[in-house]
This record gives sequence, structure tokens and C-alpha cells, in this order.
Amino acid sequence: MRKIECIIRQNKLEDVKNALGEFGINGMTVTNVIGCGLQGGKTEFYRGNSYQINLLPKVKIEVVIPDAKLDQVLDIIVKNAKTGQIGDGKIFVTEVSSVVRIRTGESGEQAI
Ligand SMILES: Nc1ncnc2c1ncn2[C@@H]1O[C@H](COP(=O)(O)OP(=O)(O)OP(=O)(O)O)[C@@H](O)[C@H]1O
Ligand SMILES: [Mg+2]
Repeated sequence: MRKIECIIRQNKLEDVKNALGEFGINGMTVTNVIGCGLQGGKTEFYRGNSYQINLLPKVKIEVVIPDAKLDQVLDIIVKNAKTGQIGDGKIFVTEVSSVVRIRTGESGEQAI
């Protein structure tokens, strides 16, 4: 299993969520986040103090999927989150060693 964490534009959440749903992905976690990427981290000085001025609001989606669905899920996210402008976001993929559905005790892909 893999966990996909993608950080995308807020106004792309509905499209990505709906497309994942149509593909049969049901479970996901969505969080409002702030962050910066390649253009970020610039510091502006004001009255002797420095401020990070470019942490922009984004949305993070976390979704755990079977390995077999990885490529298609990545495609779906890119297609639905892309504008072609800077700040479209990023996708991180990690391996997940176990999942347990608390209600039933099921584990592994059965529990996703
Ligand atoms: N290396 C990283 N580690 C963790 N989070 C990141 C990283 N890069 C980007 N992010 C997150 O993704 C969001 C969007 O990043 P962004 O799309 O601006 O990436 P980028 O590398 O600057 O690409 P682009 O040049 O297209 O803007 C950031 O606000 C941040 O939350
Ligand atoms: Mg950027």
C-alpha cells in the first residue's frame, strides 16, 4: 500500500475529490495547510524582525491506496489539479506497512 500526500490549490479540491471518488477511492483525509515551494522562503525585514511572508494557503489530501492503483491515482490528481502556473502543488508518495479498520479488525488492503 502507498500513502499519497498531495498539496494542491484550494479551488482544485472539489475536482480532485470527485475524480478520485469516480475512480472508486472512498477514504481520504483533507487538511487546510499553509506552505511554500521553490519560490518560497523569502524573508522580509520589518522593524528589525524578519517575517516569512509567502506561506500560502493550500489543501492537503492524504489517501492510502493499493499499490496497483498508484499510477492511475497520480494521473487523476495531476489532471485535476494542474493549471500550468507556479504553485499548482506537489505529490509525495510513501510506503504504508499496515492499515487496520478499527470497527472490524480487518487489516491490509481489506481495511483501506
Ligand atoms: N519540498 C517540499 N516539502 C514539503 N512541502 C512542499 C515542498 N514543496 C512544496 N510543498 C508544498 O506544496 C505547496 C505547493 O508547492 P508549489 O506548487 O509552489 O511547489 P514548487 O516546487 O514551488 O513548484 P512551482 O514552481 O510549480 O510553484 C507548498 O505551498 C507547500 O505546502
Ligand atoms: Mg511554487
